[in-house]
Amino acid sequence: MKKLFALVLTLALALSLTACGGSKEGTPADEGGETGEETVDYTTMSDDELKAAITTVTEGTLTVATSPDFAPYEFYALDENKEPQLAGFDMDLAQYIADYLGLTLEVIPMDFDGTIMELQNGNVDLGMAGYSPDPDRAEVMDFSDIYITGGQSFVCVQGNEDKFPSLEAANNPEYSIGAQVGSIQAGLAKENTPDADIVELSKVPDIIAELLTGKLDGAFIETMVAESYATQYPELSLVLEVPYDAEGSVVGVTKGNAALLEGVNRAIAAAKEDGSFEQYVVEAMELASGEYAYLQDGEIVEQ
Ligand code: ARG
Repeated sequence: MKKLFALVLTLALALSLTACGGSKEGTPADEGGETGEETVDYTTMSDDELKAAITTVTEGTLTVATSPDFAPYEFYALDENKEPQLAGFDMDLAQYIADYLGLTLEVIPMDFDGTIMELQNGNVDLGMAGYSPDPDRAEVMDFSDIYITGGQSFVCVQGNEDKFPSLEAANNPEYSIGAQVGSIQAGLAKENTPDADIVELSKVPDIIAELLTGKLDGAFIETMVAESYATQYPELSLVLEVPYDAEGSVVGVTKGNAALLEGVNRAIAAAKEDGSFEQYVVEAMELASGEYAYLQDGEIVEQ
């Protein structure tokens, strides 16, 4: 038993060394015991020590995957020249984290399921796309601390609320129900409305568009996001609350990069403590309810 434990420990250590590129400069000297084992406790390091210990895909750069179809988390907003710019509180938080860690931020936009894949394959350092800390996902990424809480909704268009007195009523083969590919909402659709015609689309604005044109009867959408879209499309109605256990949003960190995970958690705590994060949320909500644009089917659509 003891041997097995030592083996697991050695393995874990080997993995963490590879994940950190093998460079151990700036780590505390009190490592090793009789077995020569090294335990690196990033939580006790100073910020400077931690920064020196953090490794990223591209040195000096924090590479972040996002899916900008999710206002007010991440979306495209028009600037004064009517040029679409990445916006949303996840994007401001990404910049804050990069600054905190002394790294240059590079954000790569893609479809939501792609963000998880890129993170899983280690092509990016972080995924910031309003991830829910779903246990099913814990195998492919590490979760930061929760930075914002929120719930899940079932959405339809106004006038159709009577059809959906309950989720059981929505579980009907006559209904087409939408959810985003790769999202926990797709799981909620399968769980709550398995008998309905479940339509998985890659972008949330496409789900909204299909609800508005009547192609979809209902959809599972994050409550804060549905509320944001409803400021643009008042026909949307958040008709039911949907129970879901892993509430809240986290940053996804490449699995095993314990130094980066610690750095991200410190940055999140600092952004909350100094009031920056609260301000980002207020600004993103304002921007998302004003004049802005979304990427739809590869095209910028002004709203
Ligand atoms: N919270 C949900 C999930 O983690 C949906 C996130 C979708 N994010 C996005 N940027 N489209 O699955």
